Amino acid sequence: MKRILIDADPGVDDALAILLAMNSPELFVEAITTVSGNIHVDQATENLFRILGLLKMSEYPLLAKGENRPLVLPLLTAAHVHGEDGLGNVSTLYNQDGNPLYPPADADIADLSGAELILEMVDRYADELTLVALGPLTNIALAMRKDPIKMRKLHAIVLMGGVFREYGNVTTTAEFNIYVDPHAAHEVFSSGIPIQVAPLDVTHQVVLTGERLSAETEEQQCLVSSFLRDSTKACMEFYRQHVGFYGLHIHDALPIGMLTHPHFFKSIDAYVQVETEGNLTRGMTIADLRDSRQERTHNASICIEVDADRFLNHFFSRLIPKSKTNTRQ
Ligand code: RIB
Ligand code: CA
Repeated sequence: MKRILIDADPGVDDALAILLAMNSPELFVEAITTVSGNIHVDQATENLFRILGLLKMSEYPLLAKGENRPLVLPLLTAAHVHGEDGLGNVSTLYNQDGNPLYPPADADIADLSGAELILEMVDRYADELTLVALGPLTNIALAMRKDPIKMRKLHAIVLMGGVFREYGNVTTTAEFNIYVDPHAAHEVFSSGIPIQVAPLDVTHQVVLTGERLSAETEEQQCLVSSFLRDSTKACMEFYRQHVGFYGLHIHDALPIGMLTHPHFFKSIDAYVQVETEGNLTRGMTIADLRDSRQERTHNASICIEVDADRFLNHFFSRLIPKSKTNTRQ
């Protein structure tokens, strides 16, 4: 069983990743920290509580609110993709009794910053802890600035971010998480901590269509299945208009799968650098992935392939186990 800390900017696909992690017996989610990215960190933290409220747990992971803006640049959010509340506007949904359809979990939030909770967890678990980064890397970079020696004890960082042999999703050269805080990403890739990367090159191989989501959720009348339908609508509509299909890429779920089912994935070692100054290339992740360059020193393992069908089947088997016949709460 792997102990993990998730740092996220929920965000619709962050929500799917958090639900997958919390339903993965191979993992123990020790803590979750939030960061500004898809949406401002105040809203991202409210969204985190709403996501955890789906799980009705007796004990929740330790939770902390992280940084509200990147290290150097102004914040760029993606409400146009994830909805005004960053979670498909599920915060506006109420049941017949007038109560929120997806109420927040009755959980506490630590009186620590995201970076401080990360350092606290590294102190406690050292090389037993894997950090899963699903948003801009601001909190992780700040934790490294505070105590670089301690952060080197981390077992690994598994992050969703970057793009190498495709176009970006913010500019033609950059993926969102790296684009928002390229300075933090540069510091993380220069840290010497073992890093596994799930770039757009692999996350684009997994396509969750609206049709598949309907098929997987219509017979399972449970809170999670209705949340999956409600939270992804805005995102799927954005994809219909701007990407060309009604569905979405569940980017952030892939790092979770890389930890629990590594045999679904193929990765190669590479030396990754991050552009922090370019006008046209800010946030670009640069690495030479040609086989002939494999003997060079590397600072990351880049995931380049996934068995998309097996991973999607696994995703639904964990989030909506077929035996689950809960009535809608
Ligand atoms: O580029 C995709 C990444 O940016 C995902 O983590 C998504 O949630 C956004 O944060
Ligand atoms: Ca994210």
